[in-house]
Amino acid sequence: MHKIQRQLHVDHHHLQRLLNCLTTEIDCYDFDSKRAADLAVILSALDYVDTYPDKWHHPSEDIIFDRLLEKDVKESKLIEQLKQEHKEIILETGKIHQLFDMVANDCIVPADELLGGARHFITLQRKHLEKENEFVYPLMDVLFDAEEWKAIESEIKIQDDPLFKKQSKKEFEHLYQYILDLENEH
Ligand SMILES: [Fe+2]
Ligand SMILES: [Fe+2]
Repeated sequence: MHKIQRQLHVDHHHLQRLLNCLTTEIDCYDFDSKRAADLAVILSALDYVDTYPDKWHHPSEDIIFDRLLEKDVKESKLIEQLKQEHKEIILETGKIHQLFDMVANDCIVPADELLGGARHFITLQRKHLEKENEFVYPLMDVLFDAEEWKAIESEIKIQDDPLFKKQSKKEFEHLYQYILDLENEH
């Protein structure tokens, strides 16, 4: 497996872990929650989505998806839809980031709006990556040879994941520890 493909694949696994963490904290806005949400964790998770998946993962997929589209695969319609969802996901990240920034600044945001927006965001992300895993990622194994990967490599600059990559956790240290603790509880 080419290193770009591997990184994208690992990103999905990491994103799922991050979405589990976000789900746990978002649920604290539900009326029957036993504790208050950890706003610092939510904001850090959204900062991460902003800096890595939205800036590297989706744009890199767009480059790869365009090459798959050139090959006239039967999944073309789905691939177009996934490209559209990348735009939607980035917009949604911005929207809920803004809502939670408002909360952090003591502005009143109805719990329904927070819950609705955040849950929509999480579902959109989960469904999106499941479709990619099931229908699109396997195409890369079949349709790209070493030469094509070389061409892709010249278009995509590999970037380190600032949360999950061992050497670069400083900025997201608290969030990373939160994710590990949460996984240990289950
Ligand atoms: Fe994607
Ligand atoms: Fe993806």
